[in-house]
Amino acid sequence: AEPGWTETTDVVVVGSGIAGLTAALHLREQGLHVTVVTKVNIDDGSTRWAQGGIAAVLDPLDSPQAHAYDTEIAGVGLCDPEAVRVLVEEGPARIRELIRRGAEFDRNPDGSLMLTREGGHRADRIVHAGGDATGAEVQRALHEAVHRDPWIRLVEHALVLDLLRAADGRACGLTLHVLGEGSEDGVGAILARAVVLATGGMGQIYSSTTNPSVSTGDGVALALRAGAVVTDVEFVQFHPTSFVSGEVNSVQRPLISEALRGEGAYLVDETGERFMVGQHELAELAPRDVVAKGIYRVLRATGADHVYLDARHLGKEFLEHRFPTIMASTRAAGVDPATELIPVAPAAHYASGGVRTDLHGRTSIPGLYACGEVACTGVHGANRLASNSLLEGLVFAKRIADDIGRDLPEQAEPLRADAGPAWVADPATRPELQRAMTRGAGVLRSADSLAGAAKELSRLSEQRSRPNTAAWEATNLLTIASVLVANALSRRETRGCHWREDHPTAADEWRGHLLNAVGTDGHL
Ligand code: SIN
Repeated sequence: AEPGWTETTDVVVVGSGIAGLTAALHLREQGLHVTVVTKVNIDDGSTRWAQGGIAAVLDPLDSPQAHAYDTEIAGVGLCDPEAVRVLVEEGPARIRELIRRGAEFDRNPDGSLMLTREGGHRADRIVHAGGDATGAEVQRALHEAVHRDPWIRLVEHALVLDLLRAADGRACGLTLHVLGEGSEDGVGAILARAVVLATGGMGQIYSSTTNPSVSTGDGVALALRAGAVVTDVEFVQFHPTSFVSGEVNSVQRPLISEALRGEGAYLVDETGERFMVGQHELAELAPRDVVAKGIYRVLRATGADHVYLDARHLGKEFLEHRFPTIMASTRAAGVDPATELIPVAPAAHYASGGVRTDLHGRTSIPGLYACGEVACTGVHGANRLASNSLLEGLVFAKRIADDIGRDLPEQAEPLRADAGPAWVADPATRPELQRAMTRGAGVLRSADSLAGAAKELSRLSEQRSRPNTAAWEATNLLTIASVLVANALSRRETRGCHWREDHPTAADEWRGHLLNAVGTDGHL
């Protein structure tokens, strides 16, 4: 479709979680005009669901080297050491900045920041807010800061479609579909001197995920269609403990924060045995892939759909004070963690891969940046360390704004302004795609299971639809799921959160990255 309307800004930021809003605020410090585009409402992304916290070295007994070490151990040989160094060294300053912007973190009686521990960390270095409502507090503070600035224009209910490129290949804006605005079908264009993708993750390719329904990988799909390099898509982290309740029947599952294990809760099977003890020196607090695999072994052996988290010994008062979000969501479903075991199972949680960037958030397309979960900066490798994701958004948003501020060309003319992929999937395929991915490309993978998923995806891609928001989302899900399955088939080893039952160990020749790029017509 031809865009029915066009507007112009200095920088367009796509996405309104921690990465997008932080980038917008730093870009304003550079004196630039910013338009933030978001698919539903400003607070509807993943950030507000984050519970555990933000990791950073804030204790004098801790060190950036120790944080880097834990990050790289979790990433199983695939982290970029320079990117990790940037993350851990710049993290503390970015957290102090966030506090100056108005975020209120939990504090000790002496006023110092209260620090906790999560899986894979060998020190207490996680700041949190409202007990287990860290993301909600961060989102509130950033939302308010953005609203205070009249030079940040917010466009809600807008799904991005495609990148606009100038004759020299540089990104110079994007097309988008705004519900209820613009031309007959609502397609418009925003021209900008730089484009920042901060669209979050892709958890909705699975039947159960901690991600909200908007996490459909729109930024990675856009980048693929534009020919940008995307990498590490096969590394999807499953959070070990999402809440399993007969009454919760949606794709998004409530998270039971790792911080609960950090404070002493432990995993038990049906017989009450602590099955993680003896599997890893950190037991329940081993890196996430280790704990998710430990749980899957039990589920496979017993045929059950959950194991249990036992937090009863932490006491009602402590639980209510420290974990109000978890207490509310479990009690609403009839489970009281103060007196009962909490049924839990792994659920898709975080995409470690994404649009490949350098240390300044630059993608392979000049003028196109990526920040947060949509990006692959190299800090997470084959498995992200707990509470490093909000941190990554904060650190790289600032670097992107600095880079844009250093060198921003004048607005260029887009070459062509057609919007949307050449083919559009049928939105009715979404649950089928989620089932196929969960069965064939979830926590456990094998050549057979992945071939089954690939066959099912190819069948689903033959079902086409008229363009609309749900259909474009289904197209993005299908695009990403296909890349993920192809990469997972190619990577014949087990590493981090990519677990091949037919290749159960890590192989040195696979200590590298699979890169993806597809043609501009959207065909894989
Ligand atoms: C959690 O609270 O367990 C989630 C933390 C994270 O994903 O980093």
